[in-house]
Formats: sequence, structure tokens, C-alpha cells
Amino acid sequence: MARTLTLDLRDEAATAALAARIGDGLRPRDVVTLTGDLGAGKTALSRALIRHLSGDPEEEVPSPTFTLVQTYDLPGFPLWHFDLYRLSGPDEVEELGWDEIRADGVALVEWPDRLGPLLPPARLELRLAITGPESRRAELAGFGDWAERLDGITP
Ligand SMILES: Nc1ncnc2c1ncn2[C@@H]1O[C@H](COP(=O)(O)OP(=O)(O)OP(=O)(O)O)[C@@H](O)[C@H]1O
Ligand SMILES: [Mg+2]
Repeated sequence: MARTLTLDLRDEAATAALAARIGDGLRPRDVVTLTGDLGAGKTALSRALIRHLSGDPEEEVPSPTFTLVQTYDLPGFPLWHFDLYRLSGPDEVEELGWDEIRADGVALVEWPDRLGPLLPPARLELRLAITGPESRRAELAGFGDWAERLDGITP
């Protein structure tokens, strides 16, 4: 069973604060999926998470819209930031090196429905919904070991 948590994020700083808490709890082989409409803030949250873990608030974190994946050598693990919007399905995700990435890296995945059967049973799912110009609602669902680990990122 998944454990869930809903948070109201009043502005982008609140999104960044949540991103930092999630980042601090990450371990190699974790998968975090990011779901939500265009402009919901999947990339903004990823950017805040990567900058927090790299310790560089200016770190260049482009959206992987066109490159499909961007990689970061963070202290502790490599992180792979995916945007699978342009892919048609799991075959193309495997071609990007999904298995290799899962060996020791952390994966942040925008548009995870493209993963199909590659979606691992243990994962953190994050859904962002637009509730106002600057506000978002975040729904977190922890599957597998993430059910317990979700407590660690409660504000
Ligand atoms: N509370 C908030 N959290 C996240 N982003 C916010 C918030 N308030 C405003 N924004 C703005 O909303 C936009 C979110 O865009 P972003 O590219 O992160 O969306 P996305 O979900 O990755 O979309 P796409 O599906 O196109 O990849 C940014 O311009 C960001 O500054
Ligand atoms: Mg995006």
C-alpha cells in the first residue's frame, strides 16, 4: 500500500523547500516520478533539488525537454533528470540506458507514464497541481520503502 501526503505550496520558495527535503532523503537507486500539467513545476522542483544537493544555487539545470535526460554528478550519487514527454514508450527509455542508471544513480522522471513496466515498485511519486499563479498542491505517494521514508520529508 502506498502512503500519501498532501502539501499546499504557497509559492515557488515553498516548492524549493520541499525539493530540498526530498533531496536530503535520497539514496542511490531511488526513483522519484514527477507528474502534473505543463507548467505545474516539475522542472522547477527538480532544479531546486539539484541545486540544493550540488550546493550551488546558480547551477545550470536546463529542462530536459529536448535532450530527454540531463545528468549531474552530485555528492553521494549521480542524478539523472528525465523528461520523457517526447518518448513513445519503455523501449525508448531502455535505449537511454535505464538499466545502467538504475545501478547506482538516482532518477528524477518527468512524464513517468512512458516508463510502463520499467516503473519500479519502490518509488516516490509526486503530483503537482496548479492552484493559483504561484501556488501549487503537492501530493506525495510513497511505494515500497518510500512508505516509511515519507515521514522524513514531512514539514
Ligand atoms: N509554487 C511554484 N512551484 C513551482 N513552480 C512555480 C510555482 N509558482 C510559479 N511557478 C512557475 O511555474 C513554472 C513551472 O514550470 P516548469 O517548467 O517547472 O513546469 P513543468 O511541470 O516542468 O512543465 P513541462 O511539463 O512543460 O515540463 C515556472 O515558470 C515557475 O517559475
Ligand atoms: Mg518540465
